[in-house]
Amino acid sequence: MCGIVGAVAERNVVEILLEGLKRLEYRGYDSAGVALLQSDGSLTRVRRTGKVQELVDAIGEDEALGSTGIAHTRWATHGGVTEANAHPHVSDERIAVVHNGIIENYQTLRENLSAKGYRFTSDTDTETIAHTVNEAMKTAGSLLEAVQQAVTQFHGAYGTVIMDKQDPSRVVVARSGSPLVIGLGLGENFIASDQMALLPVTRRFIFLEEGDVAEITRRSVTIFDKQGNEVEREVIESNIEHDAGDKGGYRHYMLKEIHEQPTVVRNALQHRLDEKGLVADVFGSGADALFEKVKHVQIIACGTSYHAGMTARYWLEQYANVSCNVEIASEFRYRKSVVHENSLLVTISQSGETADTLAALRLAKELGYMASLTICNVPGSSLVRESDLSFMTRAGAEIGVASTKAFTTQLTAFLMLTLALGKYNSMSASDENAIVQALHSLPAKLEETLTITQGIEDLAEEFADKHHSLFLGRGDQYPIAMEGALKLKEISYIHAEAYASGELKHGPLALIDEEMPVIVVAPNNELLEKLKSNVEEVRARGGIMYVFADKDTAFASDDTMRVINVPHCDAPIAPIIYTIPLQLLSYYVALIKGTDVDQPRNLAKSVTVE
Ligand code: G6P
Repeated sequence: MCGIVGAVAERNVVEILLEGLKRLEYRGYDSAGVALLQSDGSLTRVRRTGKVQELVDAIGEDEALGSTGIAHTRWATHGGVTEANAHPHVSDERIAVVHNGIIENYQTLRENLSAKGYRFTSDTDTETIAHTVNEAMKTAGSLLEAVQQAVTQFHGAYGTVIMDKQDPSRVVVARSGSPLVIGLGLGENFIASDQMALLPVTRRFIFLEEGDVAEITRRSVTIFDKQGNEVEREVIESNIEHDAGDKGGYRHYMLKEIHEQPTVVRNALQHRLDEKGLVADVFGSGADALFEKVKHVQIIACGTSYHAGMTARYWLEQYANVSCNVEIASEFRYRKSVVHENSLLVTISQSGETADTLAALRLAKELGYMASLTICNVPGSSLVRESDLSFMTRAGAEIGVASTKAFTTQLTAFLMLTLALGKYNSMSASDENAIVQALHSLPAKLEETLTITQGIEDLAEEFADKHHSLFLGRGDQYPIAMEGALKLKEISYIHAEAYASGELKHGPLALIDEEMPVIVVAPNNELLEKLKSNVEEVRARGGIMYVFADKDTAFASDDTMRVINVPHCDAPIAPIIYTIPLQLLSYYVALIKGTDVDQPRNLAKSVTVE
């Protein structure tokens, strides 16, 4: 989703801003722009629809200069994808603004500002920020004061950076609902919506809190809280290992990230699981004492993270004897729900910034859950900072919009949570041992599973001209079928639906014909015989099936069924293992179709607006 980069320096900041935008491309966007101030007070603005490269090419021609600047990648919400709607927006060729989020009362602001003579040149809500600040400048003593006045008029979410042509020595930033991080340099300072953008220039960051307004100059950063009091915020040294700029020889980030899974899962387990089992308090200091009281788990998430939560429900109820509900964050936050006694709220998120998940956490705090835990991949993110407990998945930076390694590390985390909660809810020793052993075998099993690529490449050829597909799974493989369908639709644009196989007769059987490939995930578990019956139901109606099956299941390829053998694995980790071939299938289908694998159309990596 939208991305922000800003800089106040002595040198020309154009390269820093453009490199920052490139590093934010993974978030998904449809236009980009930059505004620069020079010490002589000139303002240059360049905007383009399409990729950041188009902006880079346009700037190349203009040779823009500026030691203070702001830049933005826009993911359209209010107003179509046009150059006029791209950020930065300006007021009177003086105030320039970039903004993430949505100003919900923009219509009213727009009417009031128009009445005062301000002329709007875009359909965006953001332009109201530029004019509101400009209007406030009439009475305020500084840009900082003007922004502090202006933000009191905004309803909705914003992470915004504002500069004034008449004072090129500073930018003022404000955060409410959309994250902003300040990057500290030597004699220069930066601002971004995501630390990824600033990794080439600094590793020292300050994450702004809700309601903060800050003034950034070359030599100073001054932060004010919601009440206008000057505050100190902690400086954090980032230890992000993976460099966004590096595809490591792979054709796409997604493929690189698929192949990183054995390593990142190994990292996720390191120092948390030893030969005897789970190490104490791996979910944070005091977590075990709290878990002792937990009788119910409420999981909240979106997208792929929601599928991880759905899988966890099977595990928590089957192995840990803890009841569990799972809900999509955008539903949970807008309905009245009943809080179970001794209920632990678990949010799960790759980015830690998903607007709906964050809003659900804030709501849950008011509802009286006994505690909140977030399972998250980004240290210092909003969910991490606002939850009582946090557990980092250690997947490293995930650049591909379609989530892969974040998902398998989330599942790994949930198996550890199953062990942690099961300990206090009469989990059987044999189940505990089975999960511990399975987790120890997981990194090597993932490596083995990644070797079945060739068969999947061939399969993808047969698939690429189809318009629809159906994914089937049972038990804890049902959410994996859902995740497989999501991957395929996200990056290959083929319509894909997932069903619990037992539901076939209740509707989807009507769709079966040779144009509707059916993908089946079939590990060797207690539901295998049931699944085989479902497969026969499809075969009897002329369906073409692609079955990912444990080699012991005795599925054999024939005219109507193509079987791809998946290495045998222990039951608790089967959902993680069967995820791999489905990721590879969607990747190779997308490759054949020639879609933009890492940045699929219309999608964003980090969904910071609801
Ligand atoms: C977007 C991304 C998905 C992700 C979902 C939830 O839709 O494209 O890959 O699963 O947001 O994001 P989160 O960061 O909360 O896991």
